[in-house]
Amino acid sequence: MEAPAVPSNAFLAKIDAYRTRIDNALLLELRQRENSVFYRPLSRALKGGKRLRPILLLLSYECTSRITEDPLPAALAVELAHTESLIHDDIIDRDLMRRERAAFHASYGSEIALLSADFILSIILNIIARYKDSRVAQTLSSATSEMCEGELEELKLLRKKKKLGEYQYISIISKKTASLFEASTAIGAIIGGAKESEIETLSKYGRYIGITYQIRDDITDQERTTSANILKLLEKDTDKNAASKELSNSYLFKAKEQLRALAANDAKALLLKFTDFVASNAFTSS
Ligand code: IPE
Ligand code: IPE
Ligand code: MG
Ligand code: MG
Repeated sequence: MEAPAVPSNAFLAKIDAYRTRIDNALLLELRQRENSVFYRPLSRALKGGKRLRPILLLLSYECTSRITEDPLPAALAVELAHTESLIHDDIIDRDLMRRERAAFHASYGSEIALLSADFILSIILNIIARYKDSRVAQTLSSATSEMCEGELEELKLLRKKKKLGEYQYISIISKKTASLFEASTAIGAIIGGAKESEIETLSKYGRYIGITYQIRDDITDQERTTSANILKLLEKDTDKNAASKELSNSYLFKAKEQLRALAANDAKALLLKFTDFVASNAFTSS
C-alpha cells in the first residue's frame, strides 16, 4: 500500500458531518425501541463504527440524485445489517475484541448476542418496508444472502486449513464483505432515481471498493494471531504482503475507473476522495 495522502481538514469535516447525521438518525431509530429489553445492548452494539457503508450510500445517492426520496433510513438499514454481521462474525471467529473493547458476545454472552442480531433484523425489515421501490429490499436481501454464503465458505476453508488461490480468496471476500458495500452504493443510486447505467456503475464501484477494503483489512489484521484470516491461506510463493497490496491496488483502480462514467459534481468529487480514504484504512478510531 502506498502511503495514503493526508486527508485535508475540510474533507474530514465533511465526512464527519455525514457520520453525525447517520449517528443522530440511528439514535432516533433506536429510541423508538426504548422500552425494549434490547435497547441497551443495541445502543452498545452500534457504538464506534466508522459508518463506511451508510456514507457510501448517501454519497451514491447524491452523485446521481434526480428525486428527493429520503436515503437516510436506507443508510441506517445497511449499517444495521453490518452491525448484525459483526455480532455473528465475532462469535464465529471466536474474537473477544471489537473496536478496541470487548466484543458484543464477550460482554453479553452468545445467547443475547444471537437474539440481539435477530432483533436488528426486525428493525431492518421495518425500515426497508418504508420504501415503495421493491429493488431496495431485493438488493439488501441479495447482499445479506451473499454475506452468509461468504462467511460459511470461509469458515469451511479455515477449518480445513487448505491453501487457496487468488480467485477463491477474492470470491469469498467479495461475498462476505463487498456484497454489502455494493448494496449500499446500489441502493443509494436506486433511491436517488438514477438511470440503470448509473446504478450498474455504482454497484460495480461498491463491489470493487469493498474488495479493496477487505484485502487491506486482512493485511493489517494478519499480525493478530487469534483472528481468523483467510489471507494467511493464500497460495503465494513470493512476498505475500506485496502481492496482496498489489491485488488491493488493482481493485482500487477498478473502483475509481467505474466512477469516471458518472457526471462530474461535488458529490462525485467527495466520493472519489472518500474512496482513497476507505482504501487507506488509516482511520483514527473504530
Ligand atoms: C469490519 O468493517 C469488517 C470488515 C469488513 C473488515 P468496518 O471496518 O467497516 O467496521 P466498523 O463498523 O467501522 O467497526
Ligand atoms: C468481516 O470479516 C465480517 C463480515 C464481513 C461479516 P472478518 O472476520 O474478516 O473481519 P474482522 O477482522 O472480524 O473485522
Ligand atoms: Mg472476524
Ligand atoms: Mg470472519
